[in-house]
Amino acid sequence: MSTEAAIETRGLVKVFGENRAVDGVDLTVPAGTVYGVLGPNGAGKTTTVKMLATLLRPDGGEARVFGRDVVKDAAAVRARVSLTGQYASVDEDLTGHENLVLLARLLGHSRSASADRSARLLDAFGLTEAAGRQVKNYSGGMRRRIDIAASILNTPDLLFLDEPTTGLDPRSRNQVWDIVRAVVAQGTTVLLTTQYLDEADQLASRIAVIDHGRVIAEGTKGELKASVGAGSVHVRLREAAQRPEAVRVLTETLGSDVQLDSDPVALTARVAGHGTERGAAEQAARALAELARTGITVDDFALGQPSLDEVFLALTDRKKAA
Ligand SMILES: Nc1ncnc2c1ncn2[C@@H]1O[C@H](COP(=O)(O)OP(=O)(O)OP(=O)(O)O)[C@@H](O)[C@H]1O
Ligand SMILES: [Mg+2]
Repeated sequence: MSTEAAIETRGLVKVFGENRAVDGVDLTVPAGTVYGVLGPNGAGKTTTVKMLATLLRPDGGEARVFGRDVVKDAAAVRARVSLTGQYASVDEDLTGHENLVLLARLLGHSRSASADRSARLLDAFGLTEAAGRQVKNYSGGMRRRIDIAASILNTPDLLFLDEPTTGLDPRSRNQVWDIVRAVVAQGTTVLLTTQYLDEADQLASRIAVIDHGRVIAEGTKGELKASVGAGSVHVRLREAAQRPEAVRVLTETLGSDVQLDSDPVALTARVAGHGTERGAAEQAARALAELARTGITVDDFALGQPSLDEVFLALTDRKKAA
């Protein structure tokens, strides 16, 4: 295996009883980038991250971080990585400031250096006002930010962010995204797990999609979108009776399968758009024009990014077809 990559795994396996939580994962994460691991609940994201961060011992295969084996060379790996877990690891009863100073002291910084670093991070993360408040009184978004701040007290070479924005409102998500960008700009490699396609799209240069402990697709964002479609249209009709005709028109103009939503006037279809947002917008506009020409009354029409469900549907459809 080369030593250039920040992470390289071959056939990585973790078994819990009968459950192959991670079932032969191969990953190559280039240094200096954000790498997205996208997957639904129970896909094996946290388990994979824990093995890479030396918190869990693999049952098969191998994994290297900056060329060092995560089992045989665990101490060397630990010295270079930091993990922000899916559940916050800061002490609830301490204030934000106290948490950061305590952790900085544990990392071996002097009292004044610890106070200084803590103040600068609190400022950078927009937490100066909340610095004197106990963390248990923080909102979810503040909580995630203090947690990430804690994990970059020492700038790690590799930062694991396990679902850093799950459950956050859009504004807090954007703040976390900005922080991730700032961390990467300083040269840190980030491995980010997420259940949100748009998050992987915003931050990651390459994405691995995992399901049932296996990588089912891997590539750059462009490659992934080209294979699953750049977006999907959501259409609401005036009359349910016109839905079969709308299905026919959309299937023809978009060349993709149309899904019937449970709501009898709603339908959804994938838009390939040659893998670009602009291509998708043009194709969607043509579909809308064609619906109007056919005499179908559309009450609402929206073009969005494909949801994770749609990505999985597209990827598993393709596997079935192959
Ligand atoms: N310590 C454990 N003991 C037994 N089973 C476990 C343990 N940790 C995880 N699992 C199982 O392994 C599988 C993968 O779990 P994992 O936490 O890695 O998923 P995930 O992709 O992180 O999901 P989520 O998005 O919900 O966080 C699940 O079926 C889970 O129930
Ligand atoms: Mg998880």
